[in-house]
Parts: sequence; C-alpha cells; structure tokens
Amino acid sequence: MKVISIVGARPQLVKLAPIAAAFAGTEHEHVIVHTGQHYDADLSDVFFEGLGIPDPDVHLGVGSGSHGTQTGAVLTALDPVLEREKPDWVLVYGDTNSTIAGALSAVKMHLPVAHLEAGLRSFNRRMPEEHNRVLTDHCADLLLAPTEEAMRHLGDEGLTERAVLAGDVMVDICLKIRDAVLAGEHAAPALPEGIDPGRPFLLATLHRPDNTDDPERLAAIVGALASLPVPVALLAHPRLVARAAEHGITLEQGAIKVGRPLPYAGLVAAVLASSGVVTDSGGLQKEAFLLERVTTTIRPETEWVETVATGWNTLVPDPHLMGSEAWAATVTRAAPTADPGTPYGDGKAAQNVVRIMEEWKGGSQHA
Ligand code: UD1
Repeated sequence: MKVISIVGARPQLVKLAPIAAAFAGTEHEHVIVHTGQHYDADLSDVFFEGLGIPDPDVHLGVGSGSHGTQTGAVLTALDPVLEREKPDWVLVYGDTNSTIAGALSAVKMHLPVAHLEAGLRSFNRRMPEEHNRVLTDHCADLLLAPTEEAMRHLGDEGLTERAVLAGDVMVDICLKIRDAVLAGEHAAPALPEGIDPGRPFLLATLHRPDNTDDPERLAAIVGALASLPVPVALLAHPRLVARAAEHGITLEQGAIKVGRPLPYAGLVAAVLASSGVVTDSGGLQKEAFLLERVTTTIRPETEWVETVATGWNTLVPDPHLMGSEAWAATVTRAAPTADPGTPYGDGKAAQNVVRIMEEWKGGSQHA
C-alpha cells in the first residue's frame, strides 16, 4: 500500500508524527508532501526535528495568502505530484486550507481519500476551519473519527458508511512526549523572559482570525490578559504578531510576557509547568486536558466538547465583558476532581489508522 500524507500547518505536523512512526513499522510506502502553508522554522522545521518525522519527500512551497490564493496554489501544485506518485490512498489531516486542497485535488483524480480527525464540528460557519472540515468530510472516502461525538456528527450528515472510530492520534504523541519530558529527556522550554517556571503562571496562545483580525477585539482581549493577577506567558503565533503590529497594539503589557511559539516538547513542558492555559487553539485545549491543566478558551464554542463536559475547559467568548474579578477567578479556578475518563482513546490511534486503511473495503466513492 502506498499512502501520501499531505500536511502544511503546525497542528498537522504533530498529527503526522505518530502516523509516520506507525507506517515506518510496516511494509507500506509512506510519502510526505508538505504544502508549505507554514514555513517559519518555529512552525515547521522544529516539528520535523523534534518529533523525529522524516523530511518531506515533496515540498510545494505555497506560503501565505488569502484563503483562495493559498488553497488554489496547493491544488495547482499537487496535480503533478499525485499524477506521478499514483498512491493507493491520500491521507489528509484536520481542517486547514492544506486539508481541503489535498482532498479536493485527490478526489478529482479519482484517488481514494482518507480524512484524519473527521467529524469535528463547531457549527460556526465564520471559521475557515469549519468550511474546510465539512467539505473534506463530504468528499473523502474514509472518515477517521477521533471521538464518539465526531461519529455522531458524521451520522447526522449521512456519512456513517464511510466513518470509523479510530481514536485521536494527538493522544499518542502528547502522552509519549509527556513521559519523555517527565523523565528529563528534554531541555527546559524557552519561556518568555520574565516568566519564572518555579512560580504560578498561565500559558496563553491566540491566533484565530475572529480574535486577532478586528483591532478593537484584539486590543480588548490583550487588555483582559494584561489585567490578570498572575503572569501570562503568551506564546505569540506569527499571525498574532503581524495583526498586533498592523493595528498598533502592544502585546507586552501588564501581566503579559511575550515569547515565541515553542517546539512540541517545549510546549508540553510549558503546559506541565503552568498552573493553567488560556487559548483559542483546538490542539492546545486537548493537550491541556491530557496534561491535566485547567483551560479557558476564548471562543463561543469548541469542537472538543469533552474537555468542557469534564470541567477541564471553560468557554469565555468575550473575556473583556466579564468583569475583571470574574475573569481572574475563571482562569485561576481549581481543577475538577472527577475522573475525566479517556474520551480521546488509549494512545494507539495511529496504529488503528494504519490497520483501518489496510482493511478498508469501501473503496473510493468516486472511482
Ligand atoms: C492555520 C490554519 C488554522 C490552524 C493554524 C495553526 C487555515 C485556514 N488555518 O492558521 O486552522 O489552527 O494554522 O497554526 O488553514 N505566517 C508566518 N509564518 C508562517 C505561517 C504564517 O508569518 O510560517 C503568518 C502570515 O502573516 C500569514 C498568517 O501567519 O498570513 C496566517 O497564516 P495561515 O497559514 O494563513 O493561517 P494560520 O493563522 O496560521
């Protein structure tokens, strides 16, 4: 079996790591195509090096741009690659522009498509990720769902026949790296200057267009973080840095200490060192849950509803409208005591994915 993985953005590289490792233990040929959606070393190279992922076999080098430009560039660049490689499967990951472009390109060439992390829904059509994941699910042949909830969403959309519960590959990698960090196998993370890892601090990230692109809203959220009574280590995504600079908003203010995005092991170590997380990232909500840190999510909804149902995650869409005491009390609240169970699987999802792809008899809907 020959499988092409199409990846391009940071969270896809995290998911690729356990998949590449699982394929490495088989006879199958696994080809990695990097679209180049993320190109800064902080968002790409450090994940290949740090997670032991083989170098990409093909790099499309598309870079940044509007949704149409970026998605179109991946589509154009992929055609000759898929034509040449003739894979048995094209595997796409998550919900970025690289995901929908990979799925669309493959489906138009009558190549079977598997979608890893299928069935997640925010039901918020303002999110580019929601368009990407819904459209990818509807054109893919095999839907690898991470959770029971994702299976339910796929069922509601008439996609049960193509869906299989595989578990969440992020559990595989997150727990493996957690164990290595706790065993002292990684250097201490490069936390922002002014953050003392021996004292309580909150770890924060912010990158969603809905939070960063409107100047008034971004200034209000940054103000809410700055007002907190504990230091905030803000790991600033390039999109946040770019929008803040464009709008003349200073990130380093009040409680906020600004740092760069961290490599994966550094991020896991930083979450473990923190007393809680404030974020709008999907991946980090789940990582904090797995690493048992309370999370406050600056969004009106989440795809990872299990983190909220178990009490580890709270949604605060507008922190600046909450009142500073209530806001501070929310982000510094105590961890829940009930056992959260294992809603994201047992850490063997990547092996499940390989086995499901080997055994899948559904074939392509589009051949
Ligand atoms: C993308 C994904 C999002 C995912 C996020 C993880 C889409 C629609 N969005 O958002 O789902 O959660 O990745 O990080 O696919 N930039 C750099 N260097 C880079 C990459 C980006 O400076 O290596 C800057 C550029 O100013 C660019 C902006 O960040 O315009 C946004 O990058 P883009 O890849 O379009 O979206 P993300 O916000 O990273």
